Amino acid sequence: MTDRAFYVTTPIYYISGTPHIGHAYTTIAADILARTARAWDGDARSLTGTDEHGQKVAQAAEAAGKTPQAYVDELAPKWKALAPAFDAQFSDFIRTTEPRHRVACLALFEKMRANGDVYEGTYEGWYCTNDETFWPEAKLVDGRCPNPECRREVQWLSEKNWFFKLSAYTDKLIAHFKAKPEFLRPQSVYNEMMRTLEGGLEDLSISRSTIDWGIPLPGGGVLYVWFDALINYITALGYPADTALMARYWPGMHLIGKEIARFHTLIWPAMLWSAGLAEPTRVFAHGWLLTDGEKMSKSQGNVVDPFNLVDQFGADAVRYFLFREAPFGSDFSISFEKLRLRHNADLGNDLGNLLRRSLAMLAKYRNSLVPAASESQLGERFADIGAQVHEHVMAMRFREGLDTIWELITALNREIDERKPWDLYKHEKGVELDALLYDLCEGLRFTAILLFPFMPSKATEMWRQLGLAGAPDVPWQEQLVWGALASNTQTAPAEALFPRLEPPAA
Ligand code: MSP
Repeated sequence: MTDRAFYVTTPIYYISGTPHIGHAYTTIAADILARTARAWDGDARSLTGTDEHGQKVAQAAEAAGKTPQAYVDELAPKWKALAPAFDAQFSDFIRTTEPRHRVACLALFEKMRANGDVYEGTYEGWYCTNDETFWPEAKLVDGRCPNPECRREVQWLSEKNWFFKLSAYTDKLIAHFKAKPEFLRPQSVYNEMMRTLEGGLEDLSISRSTIDWGIPLPGGGVLYVWFDALINYITALGYPADTALMARYWPGMHLIGKEIARFHTLIWPAMLWSAGLAEPTRVFAHGWLLTDGEKMSKSQGNVVDPFNLVDQFGADAVRYFLFREAPFGSDFSISFEKLRLRHNADLGNDLGNLLRRSLAMLAKYRNSLVPAASESQLGERFADIGAQVHEHVMAMRFREGLDTIWELITALNREIDERKPWDLYKHEKGVELDALLYDLCEGLRFTAILLFPFMPSKATEMWRQLGLAGAPDVPWQEQLVWGALASNTQTAPAEALFPRLEPPAA
């Protein structure tokens, strides 16, 4: 175990939105990271939650005839249900309306003010309520919000507000970006943020005096919703108290969608520096899930319901699909047909049949008892597979991580096809047959361990069929040693892991 443990967060989701598969994407990625980090180093923490303040929520509550608090309390459960539906486990779920968050926000605000970075001024400019963003006049497109998915009317605001001296951090941010290119990945988003930085940053209005749904400030007004939202990442570690959680897990890393990179990589580090805290270790801005070439979003009316997908395909097949289909930094389309094809081919044929064939042969030739280990070329070839998969996942190369696991699966299938256990049995080549059957079971044990972060329940089912107790959430460095599977392990009868899905009737 290292002194500083791994901490990964998802964005906190706008509570007034509707959970869709794009949100589940980040949530699952964080879960895969945390599970892999835990398997490697023993300790990892993860956080998700909901963003509950802001003008948009206040307006929606009013339209529904409810108080904002009653409105958000009603909506929170549907967001809380998102991670469990995908078998994603989080150490904490934060709601920005919780008292602990108010304490953290006010403490950070006061700290920044004490350091001379917060001043009072008049904000005059354009505000987009949908994006909860202040826009400079020059950025507007035809007088509307410049965000291509929004393009709504903006509102002219003239308010007495608190400002954060963000401009004073421009040079420090540029130096940080240059010294640590890995701070923000992928490169395309890094380049975009670098261009913004080189154009110079303006001070940021961090309070609103004309709305009252938010964290109240001494002297009136509420905090600007994005300022409040970003702080969630340290609220959940107990800030401002000098907690063991802060010491152990901060700084951590953030997973975000690319459209919110400016907040996380320009504003948030500067806020932290201003308060004397460290910037996040890394920010990864992933791509978007598209339907028919458009970003999936509630406002486009093209969202795929995540709960419906789980009902049709199971959580694990969806988890697998999302991270095998495209690199994490790229946009890609999701469709039921693509999901069904991958389910049947990769999961049903490559993986499921391998398990079924192996266990059936072990049952037929060796009474379902794992033979003794012997020298193995496969063992040599895959000796470092744990380190390789770990490295890929930690670098957000989920797809390459899965490709690496599939090399093992493909190699095991090839062993069966080439070494033909039925012939070995027929010709009474018992030593060779034992060696092959052992390799198959051991390779499947490796596969279950490596797949656990991606597909926790199917990997656990594989584990059970292999005759192993508990779940494959075992320490990789200790357990991914070829030959560790005990001889005479009694395996269970083979059962289909991913029963074939037929296309819907035309
Ligand atoms: N509340 C802010 C985040 C505050 S974090 C301190 C917010 N919320 S959101 O609900 O609009 O979006 C949350 C996340 O979901 C963002 O990272 C966004 O990129 C992601 N996604 C929303 N639609 C998406 C897709 N179609 N595809 C992939 N991710 C998507 O922004």
